[in-house]
Amino acid sequence: MKFFIDTANLDEIAEAQALGVLDGVTTNPSLMAKEGITGEENIINHYKKICDIVEGDVSAEVISTDFDGMVKEGEALAALNPQIVVKLPLIADGIKACKYFSDKGIKTNVTLVFSAGQALLAAKAGATYVSPFLGRLDDISTDGLNLIAEIRQIYDNYAFDTQILAASIRHTMHVIDCAKLGSDVMTGPLKSITGLLKHPLTDIGLAKFLEDYKKGNS
Ligand code: G3P
Repeated sequence: MKFFIDTANLDEIAEAQALGVLDGVTTNPSLMAKEGITGEENIINHYKKICDIVEGDVSAEVISTDFDGMVKEGEALAALNPQIVVKLPLIADGIKACKYFSDKGIKTNVTLVFSAGQALLAAKAGATYVSPFLGRLDDISTDGLNLIAEIRQIYDNYAFDTQILAASIRHTMHVIDCAKLGSDVMTGPLKSITGLLKHPLTDIGLAKFLEDYKKGNS
């Protein structure tokens, strides 16, 4: 299972990268705005900085909602670095653009996916990644994990290459449940990764080992 971090915060990206378990980064316009990154030039420079920190795939989202605009923006983003994955919304023109980019061998991440039917379309269009938003489904009393299970079954039935990128992850249990369901990738905030480290018995056990070592060597 690949671990992506879902942020545009360079410190958090660096911290996850330093842990040695990071496989990539996902961003979106809201995450960029949260870091105060605005304006085309600043956003482009920020993507370059992210690519310098991580070794894996970096999703960069287009703002256009029409095919021609998505192609223009996506090509410019993809030209920045081979790590860039063009992130496209699941709308008709996004699917057309996904097919265009996949035919050209440019990686894509189809985002804002909330149904199995949408995920099927993304796979048919050759998406590298499909991003079902778990947390936002859970927010409206709909089982986000069930969507991951449905997509897994459909993709396995037809051996689609598209990777399921579980997005809108909110906490560690989402990560664990997605791993159980066979999600290829998860993307979440730093705490959803570092939270996996935590267990009180680890802390208690380590303290005891160190205490016993000190006794034996004093
Ligand atoms: O990767 C999708 C993500 O950015 C959305 O997360 O927490 O805003 O629903 P959230």
